Amino acid sequence: MQLSYFTLLAAAATATAATLKHVNYGAFTQTATYSVANQLGFFTAYGLNVTYLQVPNSTYGYAQVLNGGYDIMTGTIDNAVNLRFNSNSSLTVTGQLDQGPELTIASIPSITNITQLKGKSLMVDSPVSGYAYILRKVLGLYGLYLENGDYTFQVVGATVTRYVDLINGTLPNGTAVYATIFTYPFTSESKVLPNATRPNILASVSDFINPFTSSAFTIRTANLNNGTTRALARTFTAAMYSANKYLADSNNKNASISAIAKQLNVSTAAATSAYTSATDPTTGETSSPGGNFTVNRQGILNVIDVRSQFGGFNTTPHFNYAEAILPGKGKLIDYSLRDEALASLISYTPTTA
Ligand SMILES: *[C@@H]1O[C@H](CO)[C@@H](O)[C@H](O)[C@H]1NC(C)=O
Ligand SMILES: *[C@@H]1O[C@H](CO)[C@@H](O)[C@H](O)[C@H]1NC(C)=O
Ligand SMILES: *[C@@H]1O[C@H](CO)[C@@H](O)[C@H](O)[C@H]1NC(C)=O
Ligand SMILES: *[C@@H]1O[C@H](CO)[C@@H](O)[C@H](O)[C@H]1NC(C)=O
Ligand SMILES: *[C@@H]1O[C@H](CO)[C@@H](O)[C@H](O)[C@H]1NC(C)=O
Ligand SMILES: *[C@@H]1O[C@H](CO)[C@@H](O)[C@H](O)[C@H]1NC(C)=O
Ligand SMILES: *[C@@H]1O[C@H](CO)[C@@H](O)[C@H](O)[C@H]1NC(C)=O
Ligand SMILES: *[C@@H]1O[C@H](CO)[C@@H](O)[C@H](O)[C@H]1NC(C)=O
Ligand SMILES: *[C@@H]1O[C@H](CO)[C@@H](O)[C@H](O)[C@H]1NC(C)=O
Ligand SMILES: *[C@@H]1O[C@H](CO)[C@@H](O)[C@H](O)[C@H]1NC(C)=O
Ligand SMILES: *[C@@H]1O[C@H](CO)[C@@H](O)[C@H](O)[C@H]1NC(C)=O
Repeated sequence: MQLSYFTLLAAAATATAATLKHVNYGAFTQTATYSVANQLGFFTAYGLNVTYLQVPNSTYGYAQVLNGGYDIMTGTIDNAVNLRFNSNSSLTVTGQLDQGPELTIASIPSITNITQLKGKSLMVDSPVSGYAYILRKVLGLYGLYLENGDYTFQVVGATVTRYVDLINGTLPNGTAVYATIFTYPFTSESKVLPNATRPNILASVSDFINPFTSSAFTIRTANLNNGTTRALARTFTAAMYSANKYLADSNNKNASISAIAKQLNVSTAAATSAYTSATDPTTGETSSPGGNFTVNRQGILNVIDVRSQFGGFNTTPHFNYAEAILPGKGKLIDYSLRDEALASLISYTPTTA
């Protein structure tokens, strides 16, 4: 019997699908690196079938990392700092993804400056999360203090939810909302909305705290100590690194913008704005020292500094933060997975239209 070309092609595709390794990836936002990796075939080239799991809020997201629900996640490094130093959670940061692209304070259209937030309620993920501390830091520089009752917090969830609520002007139960922290890509998405609903961007966090390490690859420590789960995370890291390098190359600008537009289902205008912030040398996904997911030392020191200003640590009086952020096996930051990933890259060039 003679097999047709198409039968062979179909057989090859089935074999590939069957051999792809499944990864449960938890994330707060669909970053540009993820968009490029997913849309331009990096995950498949690395033999992975990645399921993106939207983190609804940080409490739930980090519990999923710790119980194995997510094989790996990207989340703000402040959460890992908090869980490690305050609760001795068995979490490890394997690299930095970004330094807070599009980290802004956004408000409903009728509010046009920070001082107008006096007396208002501000939406946060958690009142003890890094972004809540950032809000307190910036508002404090405008003379507004949570502890003095100048404003209050509404605990709402991740940016994906806060964005919808801010645009709507209310929580689902009808309670009015006024302002919140936005992250990538929501600042870009908000900029192209019609005037009547378009939020005002009151401040960019990088004008106040800079550098600031934000999204970081985070894994439960047990996954690093298990050959199977470690290999999976290593391959995922290699695919993300390859996509990140592709994103960083300005020759790939159009293809990256198309990937972002397709992943986020947004206009080219919004995707172009998102691309610009994802490749911003100060805050973007291509800003890590060495361009290789290394954590910016001053960036994490600033995270610790902001958290400590608001009593966000219950560590012992002589806790040595400077020592605790040094990378190494068993430490908060461990680059060994990243190093193995960089030593196992494959050659892959996406075909683009
Ligand atoms: C990835 O896995 C999902 C769920 O198991 C499946 O529906 C999908 O077809 C797989 N994709 C590929 C490319 O194998
Ligand atoms: C966080 O998300 C989980 C899962 O969706 C939900 O059950 C929980 O109520 C949420 N917590 C907060 C504080 O919103
Ligand atoms: C923190 O956790 C590690 C590993 O789980 C354990 O060895 C250590 O004793 C714990 N430290 C404290 C202070 O509980
Ligand atoms: C901010 O808004 C308040 C109230 O409308 C106004 O008094 C103040 O002048 C504004 N400040 C700036 C810097 O625009
Ligand atoms: C949007 O706002 C209306 C009131 O203007 C409210 O009834 C509705 O529940 C809100 N929807 C969401 C998704 O928040
Ligand atoms: C509306 O929802 C918020 C957030 O879940 C809650 O804090 C608030 O109490 C609710 N308000 C009413 C009137 O139910
Ligand atoms: C919308 O806002 C822009 C600038 O913010 C302004 O130039 C434009 O005239 C506004 N359009 C309408 C219809 O109000
Ligand atoms: C290592 O991880 C795999 C995949 O989750 C699991 O099946 C296996 O039991 C783990 N091995 C140990 C020793 O925990
Ligand atoms: C990229 O897109 C712009 C705008 O659509 C177009 O003018 C340009 O020719 C494109 N460049 C490449 C290399 O395709
Ligand atoms: C993409 O967005 C458009 C409108 O902006 C919407 O109609 C469509 O359903 C969305 N597609 C997906 C897959 O979400
Ligand atoms: C990553 O970049 C840092 C900072 O430039 C450099 O010290 C380190 O050697 C690099 N590591 C790898 C594995 O490329």
